[in-house]
Amino acid sequence: MTEQELFNVLERYGQQHLLVHYRTLSRSQKDAVLRTAVSLDIHLTFRLYREFCLGKDVGHTTAVIKPSGVIGIPGDAQEKRMAEQARLHGESLLREGKAAVLVVAGGQGSRLGFEGPKGTYALSPVMNKTLFQLFAEQVKALSVRYGTTIPLLIMTSDDNHPDTVAFFTKNHYFGLQSEKVHFFSQGVLPAVSQDGKLVLRDSAHLYTSPNGHGGSLKAISDSGVLAKLIASGCEELFYCQVDNPLVKIADPIFLGYHAMAKSQASTKVVRRRNIEEKVGVYLNLNGKDAVIEYSDIDANYMSALDEKGDILYWAGNTAIHIFSLSFIGDLNRDGFALPYHCAKKTAYVVSSDWEPANIDIWKFETFVFDAIPMAERTCCMEVSREEEFAPVKNKDGADSPETARRAMSELHRTWLKQAGIDTPPGTKVEISPLFALDADEFVQKVKGRTINVSPEIYIE
Ligand code: UTP
Repeated sequence: MTEQELFNVLERYGQQHLLVHYRTLSRSQKDAVLRTAVSLDIHLTFRLYREFCLGKDVGHTTAVIKPSGVIGIPGDAQEKRMAEQARLHGESLLREGKAAVLVVAGGQGSRLGFEGPKGTYALSPVMNKTLFQLFAEQVKALSVRYGTTIPLLIMTSDDNHPDTVAFFTKNHYFGLQSEKVHFFSQGVLPAVSQDGKLVLRDSAHLYTSPNGHGGSLKAISDSGVLAKLIASGCEELFYCQVDNPLVKIADPIFLGYHAMAKSQASTKVVRRRNIEEKVGVYLNLNGKDAVIEYSDIDANYMSALDEKGDILYWAGNTAIHIFSLSFIGDLNRDGFALPYHCAKKTAYVVSSDWEPANIDIWKFETFVFDAIPMAERTCCMEVSREEEFAPVKNKDGADSPETARRAMSELHRTWLKQAGIDTPPGTKVEISPLFALDADEFVQKVKGRTINVSPEIYIE
């Protein structure tokens, strides 16, 4: 970008404060500004500011909302046969190398308040394995089980990309083939103060925010990884977020249901705990399946009950999805299709009064689940919260490392129990993914092995 182009853009959007500031910079700082400004979509930022932040309209008051069709947890023999059929189908896709795994890890993790990428947080109950290690070991175990090499994709952001790559390198990719682990960084957008001014991170850089987890569906395409996967014969992308240690990576049953339904965008849901739980809801919006964030849905819907007194819109989004690669290609065909949302956030920035301070800013994000209503065919499957969903969001309290550790431990205690080994409540149990990926495999493998019951049990 030339100086004149920068001046034109800043003047057009009433950012004279930055023009004044720019003139005070050294030559090398000015060059740095011009280099980074070229990659930032300032026009998009101000279009979003005008459209969404001035008079933000939330709530789906004019929409037609209904519960959506969900494949339930198998109960009777017929449902169990269906699940078995789905599993066999999913397993054949894995064997044929048709599935890749994406872990999105570009978020700022501000609620957890941990220095460093969230994936490097030591979480497992006995061995303190990091989230990245837990996912990588599942990918390794699945690759061995199905005689293939499943590609692992990690989406980072500018802030944590170097640390994330260095972490995998230092740990020898946790036994995965390095050429099958792909890192790509998501896009960012400048943030804007409440009165519509661009703010600075430091004297020579605008303050920017990652463009949301929906940015993964753009970055996978922009980075060339999508084209590479398609060229290798891969067809489906299993998507999960770095903060859920219970996720069943590339679950064959989920893959099978997704493929049997010829779905382009599939989702796992859990029953909402109660009407207050802060979780997005999977429902049918104007005839299309969709997820609506709890903060964007009218309170009457969030608290609606059915005739039996159960929560009507019970399906809580787990952020575990499968997207077909061809559908991701379609989303990128004529410019990126996902809509943006704006969110208010407090950030430490340098604003037009030039004193660094915590101020409220608008940041702009896309949500991955906004792809669901754009799909022609979708699929949704209910899973057990205890087995598959324990997100780590907060430093303590609900959805914290403590609750996630307990959930892992409790789940693995049930696997021991199924193998006939009883442990007292509160026992810390951890079963390595490299030993068993699920209860059935565990029960098979543990036969004939002596397990000493102690306050901490690790099985590998
Ligand atoms: P959250 O919405 O929980 O955000 O992300 P966060 O950034 O991790 O945490 P807070 O809100 O600052 O406390 C859910 C998942 O989406 C990823 C996160 O890394 C996490 O896996 N994510 C989120 C991205 O990859 N990029 C983003 O821009 C936002």
